[in-house]
Amino acid sequence: MSPLGNISIEEFLQEYWQKKPLLVRNAFPDFVSPIDPDDMAGLSLMDEVESRIILENKKDKSWEVQQGPFNDDTFATLPEQDWTLLVQAVDQWVPEMADLMNQFNFIPNWRLDDIMASFAPKGGGVGPHFDHYDVFLIQGMGQRSWQVGPKCDETSPFMDNVPVKILKEMQVTHEWTLNPGDMLYLPPAYAHNGVAINDAMTFSVGFRAPSEADILLGLSEHLAQELNNDQRYSDPHLSNANKQPSLIDADAIANVTGIINQHLQKEGVVEQWLAQYMTESKYEGLHEPLEDPLDWDDLNPLLTTENQLVKNETSRWAYYLTDENMVLVINAEKIKFSHSKQSQELATILADNRRINCEDICNLLKQTECQDLLLSLINGNHLYFEE
Ligand code: SIN
Ligand code: CO
Repeated sequence: MSPLGNISIEEFLQEYWQKKPLLVRNAFPDFVSPIDPDDMAGLSLMDEVESRIILENKKDKSWEVQQGPFNDDTFATLPEQDWTLLVQAVDQWVPEMADLMNQFNFIPNWRLDDIMASFAPKGGGVGPHFDHYDVFLIQGMGQRSWQVGPKCDETSPFMDNVPVKILKEMQVTHEWTLNPGDMLYLPPAYAHNGVAINDAMTFSVGFRAPSEADILLGLSEHLAQELNNDQRYSDPHLSNANKQPSLIDADAIANVTGIINQHLQKEGVVEQWLAQYMTESKYEGLHEPLEDPLDWDDLNPLLTTENQLVKNETSRWAYYLTDENMVLVINAEKIKFSHSKQSQELATILADNRRINCEDICNLLKQTECQDLLLSLINGNHLYFEE
């Protein structure tokens, strides 16, 4: 079951994805939030967690942003209404939130970024704005009124002298009240404004979309790492035929274009860079390999029918295919393993699923290449067992 109600995934991708907003009533029937506002407040006290509180003074139209980590006093001194607590990447901390994010796996994993949770009492919101990324806004608790407007861009007028990017004015084309389990999808750049009607939690499933500048810079840096200082512009066939010493002539331009193309067209360069870039963790410090690595004899008894293998919330996985192999990349690192038909099948299953029943892979695990791969992924802490 996808969270798109009676719209099929195909229809969603064709008609709505990156094209127009979609409201799905009851996307998650009988939704029970994995976290409550107290859990959110608890997370916002932690040093490793990125959190903010945004306060609006409706009388003088001013806004204030406080950056976490917070302490108990912060919450004791907040006004009764008109503020929002935002906690970034709750999927990294709460496995059920990672499960919720996994419901969106009809979009490639490596495009998904994180789930931001927001809590607001009545009147709380972050103001009319737009985001550069697609977002699925899931109502987790209480009710929130959402206004949606037309597409904006960087030339749209923003409020002056406020610490958040708020649109000066927002035309409203749709207005909906979301109840728990309802979901609103917004493509990038659509103006939106969500205001809590009562104590409300919203979970924003956000995406990664590198800017074209990021792509060019990232790819060039990746390519340049492989080069040395001896590889330079050269012109052994220089001619003085045109007698115009300041002219950058067609030969010189062809020469430089040739250098760029030669590097860009090297086999595997784009996929290698893209897989590394899109699996980079924003929270690198959160991921640690196992302190006491296991060997196969430790691991084997854990592969029972009751146990599931779960992808670690702090690991981002992607793979690509070359003529001969599949290349597995986790948290920007190429995973080395001995490639057999079975070990590649195992790597594919593990990469494509958040949870895998051990019994579904036990046949593959008869092969040593598969055992070695699983062991290295467990010892790298990219997978863990759950009963
Ligand atoms: C919120 O949850 O308060 C804000 C989410 C958004 O507008 O992107
Ligand atoms: Co937004």
